[in-house]
Amino acid sequence: MTDLGPVAWPPAPIKTERLVLREPEARDRAAFIELLASSEVHTYLGGPRSRDELEREMPEVPGQWPGSFVVELDGSMIGQILLRRATEQHRPAAVGKTDLGYLFLPRAWGFGYAAEACAAALDWLTGALPGEPVVLATQTANVASMRLAAKLGFTEVERFEAWGAEQWLGMRSPVTPSD
Ligand SMILES: CC(C)(COP(=O)(O)OP(=O)(O)OC[C@H]1O[C@@H](n2cnc3c(N)ncnc32)[C@H](O)[C@@H]1OP(=O)(O)O)[C@@H](O)C(=O)NCCC(=O)NCCS
Repeated sequence: MTDLGPVAWPPAPIKTERLVLREPEARDRAAFIELLASSEVHTYLGGPRSRDELEREMPEVPGQWPGSFVVELDGSMIGQILLRRATEQHRPAAVGKTDLGYLFLPRAWGFGYAAEACAAALDWLTGALPGEPVVLATQTANVASMRLAAKLGFTEVERFEAWGAEQWLGMRSPVTPSD
């Protein structure tokens, strides 16, 4: 994957009813390590990274690239949303489209935060890159992620086997802004 390319980045912080989406800052480093070292978060993502390695290698400000949003609740990071451009290593139907990814800390699951934050990130994308189709890949066994994808309006393009599991590729057609 590559970053989104020609978008104005970072945008002003995006406020939703309960959350703020913003670019990563140095104060998020511990939460990034927690997110990437969590085996619960990585159940369907090929396993976590080692905390020691993350402590050593994580830059002072992690995840700083166009399309990488920290999701903040009451002043602290609870998750990350990733909008990236799918490249040739991906499924043919996904290549060149924007890929949506999301990772939230387990303590923030089950409150609708991921749905609220992803909807805001997709609205931002519609404004930044009008007409952009968005794809999303997830394991079918990842029930929470499949429900979230459906809630966000993604519909199935195909299912395929990879990395020893069934994967789902969904797509969300471009939305025409109402104003
Ligand atoms: C995928 C993931 C982000 C989903 O998180 P989540 O908290 O289940 O998702 P949501 O934010 O949509 O919240 C879901 C539940 O909160 C509940 N909820 C509680 N209060 C709510 C509110 N005010 N508004 C909406 N939903 C609310 C809903 O009942 C909803 O359940 P439902 O989908 O069964 O109806 C999370 O499981 C995760 O980070 N997993 C690890 C990373 C991963 O696998 N990512 C996918 C790879 S791209």
